[in-house]
Amino acid sequence: MVTGFSPVADPGRPLRVVQVGAGAMGLAWLRTLTADPGVELVGVADLDVDRARAAVRSVDGCAAEVAASLGELLAATAPDAVVNVTVPAAHGAVTMEALFAGVPVLCEKPAAPTLAEALAQAAASEATGRLLMISQSRRYFAALAAYRARIARLGPPGLLTTGFFRGPRFGGFREEMAQPLLVDMAIHAFDAARYLLGSEPVSVVCESWNPAWSWYRGDASATATFLFERDARYVFTGSWCADGQETSWNGEWRAVAAGGTATWDGERRVASSAEGAADVPPGAHEQIAGALLEFTGALRTGVTPSGSIHDNVGSLAMVAAAVRSAESGGARVTIGALLDQAYEEALGLPVREEVRAALASWDDPATALATARKR
Ligand SMILES: NC(=O)c1ccc[n+]([C@@H]2O[C@H](COP(=O)([O-])OP(=O)(O)OC[C@H]3O[C@@H](n4cnc5c(N)ncnc54)[C@H](O)[C@@H]3O)[C@@H](O)[C@H]2O)c1
Repeated sequence: MVTGFSPVADPGRPLRVVQVGAGAMGLAWLRTLTADPGVELVGVADLDVDRARAAVRSVDGCAAEVAASLGELLAATAPDAVVNVTVPAAHGAVTMEALFAGVPVLCEKPAAPTLAEALAQAAASEATGRLLMISQSRRYFAALAAYRARIARLGPPGLLTTGFFRGPRFGGFREEMAQPLLVDMAIHAFDAARYLLGSEPVSVVCESWNPAWSWYRGDASATATFLFERDARYVFTGSWCADGQETSWNGEWRAVAAGGTATWDGERRVASSAEGAADVPPGAHEQIAGALLEFTGALRTGVTPSGSIHDNVGSLAMVAAAVRSAESGGARVTIGALLDQAYEEALGLPVREEVRAALASWDDPATALATARKR
């Protein structure tokens, strides 16, 4: 199994980047890529080429070429990297095309609609020797890093909780999804829980429901209790139809350990019984700018980023396990068993022979992912 990846040949010059997808999040990426002196945005592709053109025109100083597909821009611009901001259903095809053209990829979350497809992407990264990183943007807050350090000084937590309560009116696809909160939002909190605990989830019991006043078709509320390694529990309770007294978009957090308790309000304030309260100033590179910095740094140094596909699958697995538990009426779902099942599904996907061979070289998915993961 290949776990390393090739850094770019000339790390000193700005990285030539093509962005695919110019929708709502695409605009945020366009601004972030254009503002980064370490990057030269050379192309923007969108199936709706007028949307790509309008997006490029809307950002001062952006002179990127525009096309309807990644393929056209790969040939025309010879990029060092691709940023994939398409809809989740298109992530796999765009990412595979870039990787097999020899180009590393930074892809928006979620890596893929299913765990099996995400495993195939991890195998494609191995088969091509090219980095695939997932931008899980809520990992990049200075306050989250400070909170992690405080927790570490209290000793391993036995309990970590997130309360997430907001009432956004998105309209569109989120209001039609079966599990809007768990699938579209909770992955951020689940990913942060793995980061804060520094360990992996073992199993989950989850209940989801839709309150009578909800404006969503699917379940806008959920409570999930995860068992983590070292006997820690992580409890997520959230609602997307909770008007008033809203929490931060990061949720509010509490960790309980032998050395005391630490809290984070999801914004700037961290507090602990050992060290009191403090407001953490914003970092220079937060959210997608933080993901971009880690990605470009990895391409220059060859150091595996924390958001590599092999690591991020752990957060996607938490979502898949919580949904499986909720849909089976609250049965305990074991993450290892879910990964094994996804691995069998991945072997049956219509993928390139190189991807199937890389998958087949794994002893088992949990070990393959853990071996490649950065800690
Ligand atoms: N990190 C965050 O906080 C955050 C927030 C919002 C969205 N997102 C993620 O960003 C991604 C994009 O979301 P969005 O809200 O911008 O969606 P969107 O629907 O507004 O835009 C997606 C764009 O991708 C284009 N597209 C689809 N398939 C394509 C393909 N094969 N080739 C080229 N273009 C293609 C579409 O034409 C569309 O313009 C999603 O994965 C979403 O989950 C992340």
